[in-house]
Amino acid sequence: MAPCFAPSVALTALTPHASPLSASSFVPSNVPALQPRSQRCSLRMTFEAGLFETENPYAAQLKQTAQYIASRGSGILASDESNSTTGKRLATIGLENTEQNRRRWRQLLYTADIGDYISGAIMFEETLYQSAEDGTPFVDILRAKGIVPGIKVDTGLTALPRTKGETATTGLDGLPERCKKYYQQGARFAKWRAVMRIGKADGAPSDAAILENAHALARYAHISQANGLVPIVEPEVLLDGDHPIEETAYYTERVLSFTFRALNEYDVCLDAALLKPNMVNPGTDSTQQVDAQTVAKYTLQTMMRGVPPAMPGIHFLSGGMSDQEATENLNLLNSIPGSENAPWSLNFSYGRALQMAVLRTWAGDDANKDKAQQLLAALAKANGEAQLGKYTGPHPSPGGKTRNFQPLRLV
Ligand code: 13P
Repeated sequence: MAPCFAPSVALTALTPHASPLSASSFVPSNVPALQPRSQRCSLRMTFEAGLFETENPYAAQLKQTAQYIASRGSGILASDESNSTTGKRLATIGLENTEQNRRRWRQLLYTADIGDYISGAIMFEETLYQSAEDGTPFVDILRAKGIVPGIKVDTGLTALPRTKGETATTGLDGLPERCKKYYQQGARFAKWRAVMRIGKADGAPSDAAILENAHALARYAHISQANGLVPIVEPEVLLDGDHPIEETAYYTERVLSFTFRALNEYDVCLDAALLKPNMVNPGTDSTQQVDAQTVAKYTLQTMMRGVPPAMPGIHFLSGGMSDQEATENLNLLNSIPGSENAPWSLNFSYGRALQMAVLRTWAGDDANKDKAQQLLAALAKANGEAQLGKYTGPHPSPGGKTRNFQPLRLV
């Protein structure tokens, strides 16, 4: 892998040290004896300069953007639901799935007073090109609040052949051209969601699914960086299932390991990328009872084992956790012993945990708009405080303990 941030330095050979053990003393005689390290490989390598810095014209901007989004005390509003998913959400408040209603909903979100606690907003393609009623483009509204506009660039899920209902993510075809257009429109980061599930009975996640998803994430991340967009890499291990928390921890770690291997293979510069993983919870149908401390402990352990320190931020998805759980778990993650050693910001990129209560409060009636916007601002503040480990409650979400499950969505 080409180093993404290598100073111009010559690594001269390390001094080979004599081993106290003789290799030949404990291996069969037909196995060649180990050679001294200096003869096995040349340790003299010259890194002229990081390829990323010399070849990518956006390098400095990408790193700055990633760091900005991962700033302490603020996180991401994930508002990139496809038209079909948005339609299902609008139906719950009796609104028709029209372009105008989707625009009204996003206008409510983006014009709320959230700039102090939200550093990035992920948008769906239609929304990236929409404007508020007064004609101001949404991207300008966001930028004026210090919120970086982002874009979902995958085009949804498709069944992965020869697996039992596992999925691959689509959207690589034409991606460079789309990224160029999105950059021109003001987007500066890009999301790709890969989905894996745990199922003991059918062996999920299969290696095929993990490899396919890691590969697609790496290809998209490379294309995004080449076109000026910070990739927010999302290898989601779903909460669905009856497995205990230890299994979620194991598979999340395994998925992260494959993902970072693939990112390295494709020369993705981790300083200029963000991660969007799941928190480590027991499966939703598990009988295992765990407290928030345990979720935080396993989540931190998994991230410490799996995520290189070069990455500026880990932005967790809410994944069906209740609004309150999402905030409290994040707060604990940032305050339990050991969290002070985390090299990245442990942060949020919540969709449902920031939006569902706001949608219910609005109920499609603009007479409720101020109240709904105040709730969104309060939720953003609570999660911003949780990022600092300083959230004290009470939680602003009415009915905030109800989980936000939804069936696996294919678009
Ligand atoms: P949730 O927080 O609702 O899981 O959504 C985050 C997201 O962007 C999933 O792709």
